[in-house]
This record gives sequence, C-alpha cells and structure tokens, in this order.
Amino acid sequence: MQRALPSPLNVSLIWRIIYDSERELLDAGFSVQQQRRSVMAGCGLQGKESVSKKTHMSLSSSASSSSSLTATTNIESQDGGERVINLDHGDPTMYEKYWHKVGDKTTIVIPGWQSLSYFSDVSNLCWFLEPEFAKEVVRLHKVVGNAITENRHIVVGTGSTQLFQAALYALSSQDASEPISVVSAAPFYSSYPSITDCLKSGLYKWAGDAKTFNRDGPYIELVTSPNNPDGFVRQSVVNRSGGILVHDLAYYWPQYTSISYPADHDLMLFTVSKSTGHAGTRIGWALVKDTEVAKKMTKYIELNTIGVSKDSQLRAAKVLKVVANSCEPSGDEDECFFEFSHHQMTMRWNQLRMAVQKSGLFSVPDFPPQFCTFLGRAFGPQPAFAWLKCEQDIEDCESFLKGNKILTRSGKHFGFSPAYVRISMLDRDENFNLFVQRLSNIVS
Ligand SMILES: Cc1ncc(COP(=O)(O)O)c(C=O)c1O
Repeated sequence: MQRALPSPLNVSLIWRIIYDSERELLDAGFSVQQQRRSVMAGCGLQGKESVSKKTHMSLSSSASSSSSLTATTNIESQDGGERVINLDHGDPTMYEKYWHKVGDKTTIVIPGWQSLSYFSDVSNLCWFLEPEFAKEVVRLHKVVGNAITENRHIVVGTGSTQLFQAALYALSSQDASEPISVVSAAPFYSSYPSITDCLKSGLYKWAGDAKTFNRDGPYIELVTSPNNPDGFVRQSVVNRSGGILVHDLAYYWPQYTSISYPADHDLMLFTVSKSTGHAGTRIGWALVKDTEVAKKMTKYIELNTIGVSKDSQLRAAKVLKVVANSCEPSGDEDECFFEFSHHQMTMRWNQLRMAVQKSGLFSVPDFPPQFCTFLGRAFGPQPAFAWLKCEQDIEDCESFLKGNKILTRSGKHFGFSPAYVRISMLDRDENFNLFVQRLSNIVS
C-alpha cells in the first residue's frame, strides 16, 4: 500500500524556526550554563571559566546543523522522493560530526613493534585487557555516574555482542540435563534470538518473551535498559528464583536517557558503539561482580578469539579519555561530548514528533521526564531508535514505508506486531533530515 506524497510542507523549515528561537535563549545565557554548573557541583567539580567556554562551543556546533536542515529540503525536492532512505541498522554515523570537530585529539599512532604479544596484563583475571583501556572505562563511568565499577571485574570483548555470548556461556551449567532458557521482554533486541540459537548450543536456548515465560527451572533474563527498540527504561519481569540477569546497558548514556543512578547490577554490558559512536572499533566491556563468572567469560573469549584486539582497545581508550576530558571543566576546551550528542538527539526527536504529527498516519511513544544527575535537569528519553507505529488500517508498517522508499525493521523481528517498525535515529544529518521530510508528507 503506497500513499500519495502531497505538496511538501517544510517540516525542516518549521523546525529551524523553533530551533533558532531556542538558540536565542541559549545566546541569552539561559539554562545551559546553569545546568552545567549544577552538574559540575554535583560531581564536586569546579571551574566556571571552562563551563562557559564549553557552552559557547556548543552553540557554534548547533548552528551548523540548522543550515544542513535547509540543504536537506533542497535535496528532497530535487530528487522527487526517489532516493532510498535506509534506517534499518543502528549505525551511529551521527557522531562523526563531533569527532571531526575534535580533530587529531583522538588520533593514535601504533608503531610496528608494539602490541605483538597476545598478552596485555597477566596479573589480571582478564589477561587480554589493556590496562589503559580499563583505566578509562572506570574514569568515564565516574564522570557520567552511570555505573558502579568498584569491586567488579572488567572483561573486554569484541563488541558487546561477543560479551553477550560470553555471558551466556559463563552463566549456563556445563552438566545441566537441558539447555538453560534465555528470555527477554518483547519487544526485545532483534539479535538476541539469532545470536543465542545460531550454534544450536546444548548449553542455552532462546525461550522468547519474558512476559509469558512460565517454564520451571533456571533461566537467563536479558534486561536491556533503555530498551532497543522502544527506548523505555526497564527492569526484570520474570522475578522467579533460579533466574540470572544480564543487564545490557548499551544505551544508558546521557544522550539517550536520564542518568538517574549508578547502575549496580551483577553483570552489565556496555559498548563504544552506542556510547561514543565507534561501532567499527568493535569494543565492548562487561562489569562483572562474580569472580567465577568473570573467569568463565574470559575463558570463552580465549577460546573464541584468543583475546581482543589491542589496537582497538588502545583506540577505544583514547576515545573514552577524550570524552571524559571534554566533560570535565578542568579538562580540554572541547564541548562536552554528551552535551553535544544529547542536543542532537533532542533536535532529532523534536523533528520526528513534528513529522509524525503532520502526517497523522503514525505514532511514537511518549515518555515521562526524569531528572538526570549528569546533565542536572529533567528530560524524557530520546532513544537511539524510534519505535514507530503505523496507525489506521496499515498492518505491515515495514512494507508500507518501503513503498515510500524508507527502509526500516519490522516489529515482528522484535517479537512484536508488524504494525510497528524500528527506525534508526543515529544516521547522518542528511539522511535523517530527508527521512523526516518524507515521513511528514505521507498522509492518508
Ligand atoms: C541492546 C544492544 N546490545 C548490543 C548491541 C551490539 O553492540 P556491539 O556493537 O558492541 O556489538 C546493540 C547494537 O545495536 C544493541 O542495540
């Protein structure tokens, strides 16, 4: 089913007007400075001068994105809506803009004689963990306040995807008579079922939606918070004895959601893919309370890839260091990465909500605001994905949008209804702006 695109009303332009007035408020010195100050005060940090400098830089970066909105409008009218907009994957290219601005600060040089050994630190339980990377992980969690790192082992992985598999291996029993059930509340991250079952393991098996799980015996529940695809903050739902929880906190960062407390779970997964946007570096880390679990996860990675690229760990360490520096008033003069990315996400969600409202054919979730201890203000989640519902008589939202040359991922891949789709909010400005422009013009 394809609907007609009427004469374009320029959502990008409307958004730009709103955005310009927001900039005027910022120019007048409202709120952002105060917010940063309260954050610094909350972290016990000083430094008024650097606070105002960071705020000022934030304004200049925002200005450049409003001009890109105008450029997008021209592209959409030029190509007549023919260009295919692919927002199926959560590829975090949106962050390139920040990293371009930071320039060479994240550049590292690795001479040919470095990183030859398999080993990084034989005194560490996770013997392939680069000490520099571990140090920056601890520091960044302290700066942001989103996770407790004390009395935990850090296990590094080739993305949190590898760590997820290491966790399944570590949490299942070698001599159980049948595989342990792995569940997550629908809508769940679409890769969980396929990763869990790809090798048809005798140790663990995908058992579907945690909300309807009623089998006796042990189980592993994956708690993704904020959740992919719908962005809601979550807790475990099964709540039975014999349950083991894995918290996937890939999106528990201030650009996506309020940081309301330092997460303190037994096994937490993080990744640079969604925190800083360096998905291609393929580095994730697990914070693990139990020593035996950490040992088994390490063993899995040893069997799987004999450790994790040192080059990538060193690069990730540098990136995390630059992020932490940027958000500390005593550090560099760059705009705080999380202020920048938070602001980008706010703009995008405002654009999307306007497009949805104008079209009238779709809906997206509403979220209650919550106080963020890092940014020092309350705001609602602004997830990395839009969980968009096609309203009225549209049953297959993915096909419907495909008919309008917008590629998304159907709700059915997330254990949910095909009336929903997941749409990446992390693409480059040009693609995203084109998307909201096109969406706004799809009417019944
Ligand atoms: C909830 C969640 N966990 C893990 C991952 C994968 O992260 P990585 O790139 O570190 O393997 C993703 C990627 O989309 C995700 O959404």
